[in-house]
Formats: sequence, structure tokens, C-alpha cells
Amino acid sequence: MGGFELRERDGLARIGRLETPHGAIETPALLPVIHPDPTRQPVAPTELRRRFGLGAVITSAYITWRTPPLKEIAEEKGIHGLLQFDGPVMTDSGAFQQHAYGHVEVEPDRILAFQGRIGSDIATVLDIFVEPTATEAEARAGVELTTVRAKQARLDRTGLLAVPVQGGLFPELRFQSALEASTTGDILAVGGVVPLLEQYRFPDLARVLLAARPALAPEKVVHLFGTGHPASFAFAALFGVDLFDSSSYLKFARRGSLLFPEGTVPLERIREATCRCFLCEETPLTKLAGLPAEERERRLSEHNLLMCAQEISVVRQAIRDGALWELVERRAGNHPALQAGLRAAVRGTRVFLPAEPESRTSFRVVGSTSGLRPSVIRFLARLRSWRSGKGEFRPHPWVPLIPSTLRRTPTRTRAGEPIRWECFTALGPVPLELTELYPVGCYVGLDEFDDGPSARKNAFPPGDSLDLTGLDVEEGVDWGDPWTQRQVMSSMEWRYGPESVAAFVGAPLTAERSARSGRLRSISWDGSKAFIYGNDGVPRPTWFGALKLHPLLPFPASRIIVDPDAAPFVAAGKSLFSRFVRGGDSALVPGSSAFVVDPDDRLLAVGRLVLAPYEMGRITRGVAVRVTAHARAHGTEPEDPEELPEPPTFSP
Ligand code: GUN
Ligand code: ZN
Repeated sequence: MGGFELRERDGLARIGRLETPHGAIETPALLPVIHPDPTRQPVAPTELRRRFGLGAVITSAYITWRTPPLKEIAEEKGIHGLLQFDGPVMTDSGAFQQHAYGHVEVEPDRILAFQGRIGSDIATVLDIFVEPTATEAEARAGVELTTVRAKQARLDRTGLLAVPVQGGLFPELRFQSALEASTTGDILAVGGVVPLLEQYRFPDLARVLLAARPALAPEKVVHLFGTGHPASFAFAALFGVDLFDSSSYLKFARRGSLLFPEGTVPLERIREATCRCFLCEETPLTKLAGLPAEERERRLSEHNLLMCAQEISVVRQAIRDGALWELVERRAGNHPALQAGLRAAVRGTRVFLPAEPESRTSFRVVGSTSGLRPSVIRFLARLRSWRSGKGEFRPHPWVPLIPSTLRRTPTRTRAGEPIRWECFTALGPVPLELTELYPVGCYVGLDEFDDGPSARKNAFPPGDSLDLTGLDVEEGVDWGDPWTQRQVMSSMEWRYGPESVAAFVGAPLTAERSARSGRLRSISWDGSKAFIYGNDGVPRPTWFGALKLHPLLPFPASRIIVDPDAAPFVAAGKSLFSRFVRGGDSALVPGSSAFVVDPDDRLLAVGRLVLAPYEMGRITRGVAVRVTAHARAHGTEPEDPEELPEPPTFSP
């Protein structure tokens, strides 16, 4: 039971699946807060599922326990019977009431046992709600007591357990709390943040999530207590939050307010048909004000739920598209508080990097922090080390590597000294031969649309007026082939390291370029395709290319090592499941091409990483590497192993 399967991802954000006794929850998911008293709940849980696709809910075990008639029904018919709902039900423990009323009148073991008795699918430990105003000593005490209770709760419960992560605004305490929760909880529930959300303190929320994130076990589900405004879903998902819960839809409805991903709108201000959703088709927003209070509240609640459900879908689609950063930036454009939160997020680049994909299909500038996304920071950092020792660079006016311009751009002087050119791209100066790489190659910024003086479009001078001053260059040479060679070598070195280039020196290589864009498409070796370039400018080995490259790279570089039990399946082309991973190169990231090998470094397959190395073997369900080429299909028997060091295992 339990166990999280990651199916798709964009950085830390993931589309996954959590099994519960009452069915699976597809994450990211919003669990609407349901009042355990059906007469106080404007939209029944079955309606939530049927009309809005919200298939799981959260309710308060504490309110149920404290209200005798509700308690009686729950003890007799279970929480599902009380709510008249047969989907997954998570229950909360009462810590929120401690926040709201200053006290909670139940012992942790009693409320946990009660949650078990009423058949909660996910029971929550009675934590200490640590306020953002707490002193360090108070916060520490809150974390310690929460930890003690969580340890006891783990002993007492076999079902799914949500363990809150507290710590107030103290990063070390958030980290420690997350580490502790990861040992006891199935669901790691970041708590104590409701005041931050209510006060639009997104930078503080970002810092809380950044502090906790590295300590949150990747195989467990992350919940964020109190995120119910659709404006915050994308933002929270960016940090890998899988579950959201909130009663916002109802609270805002009571205040006469509408929730949209763009922000909150008071109903009384609405004079136009600004929404044409299926609910508004029935009753336009402009008509709601005239309805009786109870009816109006129900309709506002439904509308808010619909907007929440839709935004969850938008977030999920963005994860599939690799466009979550863009979505978050667009949402942040709606409110400076969210922009400030995003600015705090990009200051925590290091937290995002281990899960940051090798590339995405596009890079569009949509906000003021677009140029600070982790993919950019990582590229620029690597560029710095790439340049070192490579000599001086001269400015080159043209960004794309078009054959006609390359033919006129010399790669070396008459004396054989290499000439290094660099383009001034939107990300700053980049060596010409690296400009096809993600995120430079697919970067779409403002200049691409600006025909004014700042445009660099068609900036390559028509004649032979490239600035060659001070260079002794041979005249009338076609530099096309030397450029292809340099570009092939550079892209190989960029991705696979200097050892990979050694094999190419003097080898019978040819490279194809796209006729339309001039971009490199593939490298052939003696006429056989060895590497295929993706749109991200990264060469990826075919089986033939892998046979050439694999022996050159020092073990365990670019490798994922599989359990011998799984080796025959991988060699036959089956995807590599996470539970069969033994170790490998921890510098790989999702989307990287890797050699799948057995512990003796026999090459079994080539594949693309779905999981980050630190997640492999920990997220035990699902695929770790999707195989793209394999031994069996090509009739190649794995070679005899040489003496190898012990394969390293990934550290969490
Ligand atoms: N609901 C909102 N915040 C919290 C929290 O910090 N802990 C618990 N248990 N429930 C909450
Ligand atoms: Zn509507």
C-alpha cells in the first residue's frame, strides 16, 4: 500500500499516482476541505468528483471527534459513510484548530486512533502548528514534539500517514523537520504556512519550501497545507508539491469573492460576462448577486471549485509540456507578491538543479525572472568552466550556424592557431559552436520580435567584412567542414567530456545538417549513424554510437547500473524499472541519455532518464530509464568485463 509512482515530470514538479484503500490519487491534486457535517457543506463530495473531477477530499477528524452526533456516525459507518463518499479521504488532526483558536483538546494518540477507527485513508499526526512569528526556541520545540508524536504514530498505524513538516521561518528547522518526517511519513505535509498564504508572503513560502525540499524523501508525496487559491498552485508545484488542500473555495464564497488563477475578484464588482464556463452558461456571474444568500454561496463555491480544478489541469498540462516555469512566471505576472516569491525561488537554483531536465522543447521569455531559470543558470555556470583554457574569443555577429555564414568564418589562422568566435546571445556571449544547445538554441526572447536597432537578425555582413583584423588567415578557403568538425567535437565534449572526443580524432566521420535551418542532425561513422542530434543540440548515441563511446568513458560516467536480474530484460529493450537500479553517474539528470550497463559494465542498452539519479531505487514504482536502443535488437553480445571498481550508489 502507498508508494508513489512518478509518471511525468518537469523539474521537481511531477505527475504521479498514489494508491490509497479507496482508489488512487492522481497528483498534483487538490483535496477540497469538506466539512464533516453534511448540512454545513455546500457541495457534496460525490458532486465534486462527478462535476469537477476532484476525486479525493480532506476533512477534519478533530471536528468529527469533538461533535458527538458526527462522531457517532463516523464510528458506526466510517468517515466514508459520514461523508457519503467512497473515494480517498484524508483526515486532519486538529493542529489547524490550535492555530485558529490557540488550543486543541485531544491527545495525539487518541485522535490518531480515531482516524484509524473511522477508516481514514490518510491519517495526519497531531502536530504543533508553528506560527511564522515563532522564536527559534518555540519553533524548535514545535518540531521536536511533532517528531516525537510522528514516531509514536508510525508505530501505531499501518495505513498511510501524513506527517507535518514544521519549523516556522527557520530554514535549518524546516530541513530537520523534513528529514524526520521522511523517516515516518508516507505523505510529507508542509504546515504552518496558512498565515504566509493569507498575507501573500510568497517569498517566505518559497524559502520554507526551498529549505525543506532537499530533505523531503523523493519517493514520498508532498502536501502543502492551506494552498487553496488557484493563483498559487503552479508556484507550489514548482517546488514539487503534489497535494494541495484548502477551504478557500468556501471561505472566499462566504465573503462574496471569486477565485481565478489571475487573482481574487469580488462578485459585486462584476458587471460583464467575464467568465463563460459551464456554470456561468447556466447562471451568469452578473446574476449571482441577486440570488438568496445560501444559493449564492453555493454557486460561488462551485465556481471557485471549478476554477481550482481547471488550474490543476493547467498545471498538469504544463508539467507534461515542460512549461511549468513559464506558467509560474505568467501567473506571477498577476501579482507582485508572486513575482517576489518567484525571485526568492530563483535564488535557490541549487535546490532545483538535481531534477532540472537536460532540455525542454522550448524556452520562451515571459517574465522578468525568465533569464534566471535554473536551466539558464546551469548553462552559464558550465560555460564559465568550458571557456577556461580555451584562449581568447572574438565577437561574431551571427547567432544561428547557417552553412553559408560558416563557410566564410575561419576556424584557424595560417599558422594553425584556432580562432574562437562567440556570439552575443540573449544569454550573453556564447561560443559560436555551442549556440545550438538548450537553452540558447531554442531561446525565444524579445529581440526575436523587435525589428528596431537592437535586432541582430541578418546581422552577418553580406561581403567579407567579418572582422579579421590582426588575424593571418588563408584566403578563399571553404570553412564549412572545419566548422562541422569543431561543432561535432564541441557538442560531444560538452555532453560526454573530453574522453569522448578522443575516439573521433581521425575517424571516418560525416555529419548531416538540416537543409532548412543548418542545424546538425546526425553524425555517421563510416556511413553508419552513430549519434542523432535532438532539437536541444545534444548528440545522443544510437546502439552503434554507444558501442563506440561506452568503452571510452571512465566508469561510471554516463552510466546507469542495473541489477543482474533485470539485465536480460533491459538488453531486450524493456524499460528499466526504478527498483532494479543499483547506481551510476549521479551527474545525470532527467532527459539525459545514458548507457545502461550491468555491474560488470557490460553495455545492455541506451536510454533516456525519466528519474533523476537520486530518485532511482527510491521511487520504487515505475520507470527510471526509457530504453531507446538495446543489445538484443542488434545481435551484439555483451563483451567480457575488465576489472572494475565497485559501482557507486546514489546518495539521497
Ligand atoms: N492545516 C493548515 N495548516 C496546518 C498545519 O500546519 N498542520 C495541520 N495538521 N493542519 C493544517
Ligand atoms: Zn464561470
